[in-house]
Amino acid sequence: MLHRPKALFAMRAEHLATLFPAPAMARLLSIADIDVSLVAERFDDPRLAQVLPGVEVLITGWGCPPLDETVLAAAPRLRATLHAGGSVKGLISPACWDRGLLVSSAADANAVPVAEYTVGAVLLAGKGVFTLREDYRRRRWFPLGEVHPSVGNHGRRVGVVGASRIGRRVIDLLAPHDLELCLYDPYTRVEGVEQVGLEDLLRSCDIVSLHAPATDETRHMLDRRRLALMPDGAVLINTARGSLVDTDALVAELRTGRLSAVLDVTDPEPLPSGSALYDLPNAFLTPHIAGSQGNELARMGAAVLDELERLAAGSPLAHQVSHDDLDRVA
Ligand SMILES: NC(=O)c1ccc[n+]([C@@H]2O[C@H](COP(=O)([O-])OP(=O)(O)OC[C@H]3O[C@@H](n4cnc5c(N)ncnc54)[C@H](O)[C@@H]3O)[C@@H](O)[C@H]2O)c1
Repeated sequence: MLHRPKALFAMRAEHLATLFPAPAMARLLSIADIDVSLVAERFDDPRLAQVLPGVEVLITGWGCPPLDETVLAAAPRLRATLHAGGSVKGLISPACWDRGLLVSSAADANAVPVAEYTVGAVLLAGKGVFTLREDYRRRRWFPLGEVHPSVGNHGRRVGVVGASRIGRRVIDLLAPHDLELCLYDPYTRVEGVEQVGLEDLLRSCDIVSLHAPATDETRHMLDRRRLALMPDGAVLINTARGSLVDTDALVAELRTGRLSAVLDVTDPEPLPSGSALYDLPNAFLTPHIAGSQGNELARMGAAVLDELERLAAGSPLAHQVSHDDLDRVA
C-alpha cells in the first residue's frame, strides 16, 4: 500500500526520546518520511501548516490532543494513527471512524509491565510479605511464635476479574505457580481456567486482582456489599482503574484490618493529601506506575514501528483497534 509513508509525531515532546531511543529513531527513518525534530503538541502549532496537508500517518503518544474534525480537515491525506500508548478512547473522535482511519494501539506492549507488577503483587501478597513487613517494622522483632498457617502460595486461590489483555497475561504468568486460578468476565472466556460469577469469585478467593476496563457497568463493581463477601485476610489488587472500587467502602474495610489492598490506581487520582489510604498499614499504594514507565516506553515505541512497517508493506495491522469493541475495552 503505502511506500515510505509521510509521518508526523503528535504527543508531549518529553516522551519522544524514551519511546524512540537512537536505534529506534534510525529504524523509523528507514521506514518513513518524518522530521524527527518536529513533535506536534498542539495541532494549531504554526509549524504544522505546511506539514499536516501531506501527513499520511500520525505517530501519537501520551498528551496528543484529540483528533477531531478540525485536525482531520487539516490532514486530508491522513490514513492511519499508530498510538504509542494504551487506550485510544481520549484520542480518537467519531470523525476518525467516519473517515475510516486505521487506528492501532500499543496496549499489548503496555500490558507487559502491568502484568509483571500484578504477578509480583500476587506472589508477595500470598506470602504475606506486605503484612509481615509492617509487623517487623512495628515490633522491631521477628513475628512472635509461628507465622500464620494461612501464609504461603501453596494452593492459594486467586481470582482474576476481566479476561483483558492484562488479565490473560497475568493468568499465563501465574500458570506455572502452585495456585488455583479462577476468572470472572461476562464477555470473554479463557480456555482451561475456571469461570465463575463475580460474587463466587469474591467469596472464594484469598487474592482478587482487577483487570476490567472503566465503563458504566464496572463503576463500583466492588461496592460495600461485594467487598464484605471477601474472606477475612483477603487481598484486593487494583491495577485497572480506581472507579471499579468504591473508595469509601474500601477504606472502611481496611480500617477494620479485615482486608488488605495493593492499589496502583485510585479514585480520585492522585488521592487528596488527607486520604487514609496513604497511612493505613494494610494499603500498599503506588502512584499509577504499573503501566509503562522508564525503559518500558521503548517497548511501546518498538510496537509502533512494527505496525508502521506492516502499514508500509501493505500488510494488515497486528493491533488494530475496532470501533465496535470500544464499549467493552480499556
Ligand atoms: N495501572 C496502569 O498503569 C494501567 C496500564 C494499562 C491499563 N490499565 C488498566 O487495566 C485494565 C485492563 O486493560 P486492558 O488493556 O488489558 O483491557 P482490554 O481492553 O484488553 O480488555 C477488556 C476486557 O474486560 C472485559 N470486561 C468488560 N466489562 C467487564 C465487566 N463488567 N466485568 C469483567 N470484565 C469485563 C472484556 O470482556 C475484555 O475481556 C483497564 O482498566 C486499563 O485501564 C492500567
